[in-house]
Amino acid sequence: MGMGNGAIRIGRQGQDWTVKSALDGEINIGLMGLGTVGGGVAAALLDNAEAIRRKTGRAARLRRVLVRDAGRTRQPALPPGTLTVNPEDILSDPQVHVVVETIGGDAPAGEYLERALAAGKHVVTANKEVMSRRGPALMALAQERQVNLLFEASAGGGIPIVGCLMSQLLANDIHSIRSIINGTTNYILTRMARSQTAFGDALAEAQERGYAEADPTNDIEGIDAAYKLSVLGSLAFHRRIPHQAIFTEGISRLAPEDFRYAAELGYAIKSLAIAAAAPDGGIQARVHPALVPEDHLLAKVDGVYNAVEVTGNLCGQIILHGQGAGRDATTSAVMGDLLNILRTIDNADGPPPLPLPDGGSPDAAHQVHPIDQLSSAYYMRLTCADQAGVLAQIARILGDGNISIATVIQKDTDPGSGTAQLVITTYPAREMDVQTALQSVARLGVVASVNNLIRIEE
Ligand SMILES: NC(=O)c1ccc[n+]([C@@H]2O[C@H](COP(=O)([O-])OP(=O)(O)OC[C@H]3O[C@@H](n4cnc5c(N)ncnc54)[C@H](OP(=O)(O)O)[C@@H]3O)[C@@H](O)[C@H]2O)c1
Repeated sequence: MGMGNGAIRIGRQGQDWTVKSALDGEINIGLMGLGTVGGGVAAALLDNAEAIRRKTGRAARLRRVLVRDAGRTRQPALPPGTLTVNPEDILSDPQVHVVVETIGGDAPAGEYLERALAAGKHVVTANKEVMSRRGPALMALAQERQVNLLFEASAGGGIPIVGCLMSQLLANDIHSIRSIINGTTNYILTRMARSQTAFGDALAEAQERGYAEADPTNDIEGIDAAYKLSVLGSLAFHRRIPHQAIFTEGISRLAPEDFRYAAELGYAIKSLAIAAAAPDGGIQARVHPALVPEDHLLAKVDGVYNAVEVTGNLCGQIILHGQGAGRDATTSAVMGDLLNILRTIDNADGPPPLPLPDGGSPDAAHQVHPIDQLSSAYYMRLTCADQAGVLAQIARILGDGNISIATVIQKDTDPGSGTAQLVITTYPAREMDVQTALQSVARLGVVASVNNLIRIEE
């Protein structure tokens, strides 16, 4: 089909350009999912039609909305004939120009996105799991089809970090990303720190308030954060960081006294998701609780808020802080992507190129170092016999393992059991050495238990 007068190119199906008359320049949206995020997106499209047209120069029409259960009453109420349970009503409809996916999970969402892109439709997704598992391959497909694939909401919710890494910070060599990207865990840790609440009680409270799901495993074990770190790290370091390669450690071992002792030492405890360039060209990628100096901005991120710190050779240190989840904040991110597509859909040259991974194949992955090789300072809390000579025995084992003690405090002596809490911080040491030494420490007759080992992020 030719590009006649008043005709615009809005995407490509196979090798043929789909051409639509500029005179009826309405862009049709197929929305997949109408839950927390999809409901917000549908409402934004229905309520703000005129503002969207003014901001982008294009009218957007919500043509179809895919759900599982067509029988439920829906908010917002949709125009008759919009709701469907058949994905083909979106994927096989040539009049759907943009697919917005808010279903979540890899299957079937991943396949739907692949088909949408292959059919020449622009795609916006909020799906961290799909973007972590298939992001580079989907980006390559989008590039080939010359359509947009935007995924701002997949990591950091309302914080515009994905777009920053894809464009504004693209000139940098990124040294590290350090982030708080799971609001549920941050809420629980904030409650534990402020009120000396036990982990189980803080989790129950988060569930009551709707901040944690009935099965909280993905959040509290760091899996959700690993997906998001995989998305952000792959963009920052220009090659795939598979989420399975990211070391994850949950927060359930933390106890109220850890927060108390950490505060005495001048630290907060946060669950951090960190990806950093290693000197040998590999990557360190890990999600775990960490002691953060209390004057660092990350230590001040409380409740369900998220923050992402990026350090680059040109930009230095940047911190973005905001709401990492929730209907409105996530709708902001999804709608931002959608409005960007509407603004540029007429471009004769197609969408701007995506920052595809280095290394040829979209599947080429970074070499992610095992946690054993990490060099870090550590906080350790032990329950020991309250008697002379205990510290000397522990210090000897640590010294033999090349681990230098920075501080020691003895707390909470219990005359009943004759034990006390010993809190030791170390100078930077190798994780493998620290783990090995702690096994020997745990075998000492004067040590009742090794209660916690937490990495310190200076
Ligand atoms: N919630 C947040 O704050 C937030 C923040 C950032 C990113 N995200 C991401 O946004 C996505 C959606 O999250 P959400 O919280 O909005 O989820 P949600 O409330 O559970 O909604 C999911 C929607 O998808 C539909 N759906 C699920 N499986 C389907 C299938 N097989 N076929 C068709 N429709 C299906 C559901 O249909 P029914 O209504 O019929 O059940 C529901 O409308 C996820 O990728 C999530 O990670 C969420």
